[in-house]
Amino acid sequence: MCGIVGYVGSKQAAPLLLDGLEKLEYRGYDSAGLAVINEDGIRVEKSKGRLSALRALTDDGRTLPGSVGIGHTRWATHGEPSDINSHPHLSRSGRVAVVHNGIVENYMQLRDFLLSHGYAFVSDTDTEIVSQLMDYCYAGDPIAAVQKAVSMLEGSFALGILFSDYSWQLIAVRKDNPLVVGIGDNENFIASDIPALLKHTRSIMRLNEREVAVVTSSAVTVFDRNGDRVEKQTEQVLWDVAAAERGGYEHFMIKEIMEQPKAVRDTISPRIKDGRVELELTPGMNDVLKSVSNIIIIACGSAYHVGCIGALMMRRMLHIPVSAELASEFRFSYPVCGENTLCIIISQSGETADTLLALREAKKLGAKVISVVNVVGSTIANESDEVLYTFAGPEIAVATTKAYSAQLAMMYLLALRISDARGSIDKEEYEKCVEALFELPDHIGELLKRKEQIQYLASLYFNLRDIFFLGRNMDYALALEGSLKLKEISYIHSEAYAAGELKHGTISLVEKGTLLVALCTNERLLDKMVSSIREVKARGGVVIALAGEGAPGVEEAADHVIWLPRSQPFTLPSLSVIPLQLFAYYMASLKGCDIDKPRNLAKSVTVE
Ligand code: G6P
Repeated sequence: MCGIVGYVGSKQAAPLLLDGLEKLEYRGYDSAGLAVINEDGIRVEKSKGRLSALRALTDDGRTLPGSVGIGHTRWATHGEPSDINSHPHLSRSGRVAVVHNGIVENYMQLRDFLLSHGYAFVSDTDTEIVSQLMDYCYAGDPIAAVQKAVSMLEGSFALGILFSDYSWQLIAVRKDNPLVVGIGDNENFIASDIPALLKHTRSIMRLNEREVAVVTSSAVTVFDRNGDRVEKQTEQVLWDVAAAERGGYEHFMIKEIMEQPKAVRDTISPRIKDGRVELELTPGMNDVLKSVSNIIIIACGSAYHVGCIGALMMRRMLHIPVSAELASEFRFSYPVCGENTLCIIISQSGETADTLLALREAKKLGAKVISVVNVVGSTIANESDEVLYTFAGPEIAVATTKAYSAQLAMMYLLALRISDARGSIDKEEYEKCVEALFELPDHIGELLKRKEQIQYLASLYFNLRDIFFLGRNMDYALALEGSLKLKEISYIHSEAYAAGELKHGTISLVEKGTLLVALCTNERLLDKMVSSIREVKARGGVVIALAGEGAPGVEEAADHVIWLPRSQPFTLPSLSVIPLQLFAYYMASLKGCDIDKPRNLAKSVTVE
C-alpha cells in the first residue's frame, strides 16, 4: 500500500525523500507528494501519477528548500487518484501536514465532528481528516496533539507529521501498519519499509503500536500511549535490498498469503457498524437490491472462482436465481439480463478486458452494475453504477491470494446486505454471520501458523505430473481455485472435478500413486465426499483431505488430513482456500519456479 518516508538532518530534504520514495515504488502507487518545512512554514507539492511527475514538478526536489520533510506514495483507497487526494494533506490553518498509510475507519464520524467545529475539507480522503484533527487537538504541544488525535482514530495507520511551529522535527506514529525509524549520523529518517533507508543507514528502530516518535537530526525520542518515555533498542539490518522489499519473505506471493488476515479485516471492519453491514452504496440502491429478480456475478480467473462461491451463497440466502459467469463467455451466452438484473462484477485490477466488455454489455442490457474492485479509479470502477472497493492493498505476485480473499469477504458482505434489504434472513442467522465475519481474520491467522504441515505435504508430492482436486458445492469452486493456483505457478498439470462427476471421467485416470486433494468441508455432503475418497483409494490413489476439525470418517479414509479451525460455515470458504494457496506455493517453490512471475501469465489481462 502507500509508502511513507521522512528526513530530518542538514541536507536538503526533498531530493532525499524522492530517492526514498523510489525504493518504495514496489508497494504500488498512483500519486506522490512531498511536504518540507522551514522557518517560512510548510510547503507541499504533490501530483497524480508516477514519481517522475513529482520530480518534474519540483525539479528533482531542488525547488523545495528545507532540511526537514515527509514524502508519500499513495495507493488510493478513499477517493480516486488525483492531485488533491494525494498526500501530504495540510490542515486548513497550514499548521499541520500529514502523510498516512492505512484506513481510518471512523473518518465519516470524525469528518462530521470537525465540520461542526468549523473545519472544511478539500479532498475525499480519510487522511485529510487526520491533519485537521491534529490541528483541532493542537494547543502548542505537538506530542499531546498527536496523542489526543490518535486516541480518536479507529482503523489502521502509520503517520508522518510536521507541525509548522516545530520546524526542526517530525513526528511518527503507527498502528497496524509498518513504520521504521532509521538512525543516521546527525540525520534521522522514517520509512514504511527498510529499503528506503538502506542507502543512508542500516541502524533502525522499530515502533510498537501507538508509540509516538519525535525525530530531530540528533535524537529520536519515543513515548508510549500514556505519554511516558520509552527506551528503545536499535537493530542492524543485515538483509540485502531485494529481500527487504519483500519484508524478509522469499517471494511476494508468500508475503501476500501472510497478509490475508489484514486484507480481510481491512475490507470487512469499516463496513460493520453496530452489528450491521453497511455498504457505501447510493441510497436508491436499497430499492434495487430489494426488487431485482436475478443476480449475475461476472469475472475472470480467480475472481470468477470467488463469483462461483458468491453465487451459491446468495442463491441459498436470497432464494432468487444467482449465477456466476465467465466474463469472456458472458456476451456470447444469451444472458438473461435486463432491467431487473443486478450484475456484480469482480476484478482485482479493474482493467481486465473481458470483464470490462461484459460490464458494458450488462449495462447495455439495462442491468444495474455493482463492481467489486481493488484498484481505486480503475476503468471498471469508473464505469460501474456502484463500486465497492476491497482493501487488499497492491498485489504484486501474478497469482492472486490476498485480493481473492478480500473479494470473498466482499461476497459475504454483499450477501448479508442484500438478504437484509429483501428480508430473507432472520435476526439470529444475521447476527451469527456478522459474528463469523469478525472472527474470520483471526481464524485465517491461526491457519497460516500451521503452514509447515502443508510444506511437508508439498515435499512428498512436488515431483508428480498430475494432481486432481475434488469437491462438491462451494468446495468445488474452491477446488477450481486450488487447481488453478497450482497450474499457474508450479506448471503441474491439474484438474478440478465436481466430486459427483468422478465416476463420469476422472476415475479412469486414477492409478497407483495418483494424488487427489479432496475438499470435505461441507458437513451436509461429508458422507458423499468420504465415499469418493474410498473409490479413489480402492484404485491405488493417494488422498489429501481438507476438513473441518473432527469431521467423522475423514481420517480413516484419507492418507493425510489438513484440519481447518472450527468456525462458522458462512465464512468457511475463506479458510479452505488458505491450505490450497500454500500447497501451490510450496510445490512451486520446491520445483524452483519463478513464483511471482510465472511464464506466459500477466497480472492484468487487458486484451480480449
Ligand atoms: C489474471 C490474474 C488472475 C486474476 C485474473 C482476473 O489471470 O493472473 O490472478 O484472477 O487475471 O483479473 P482481475 O484483475 O480482473 O481480477
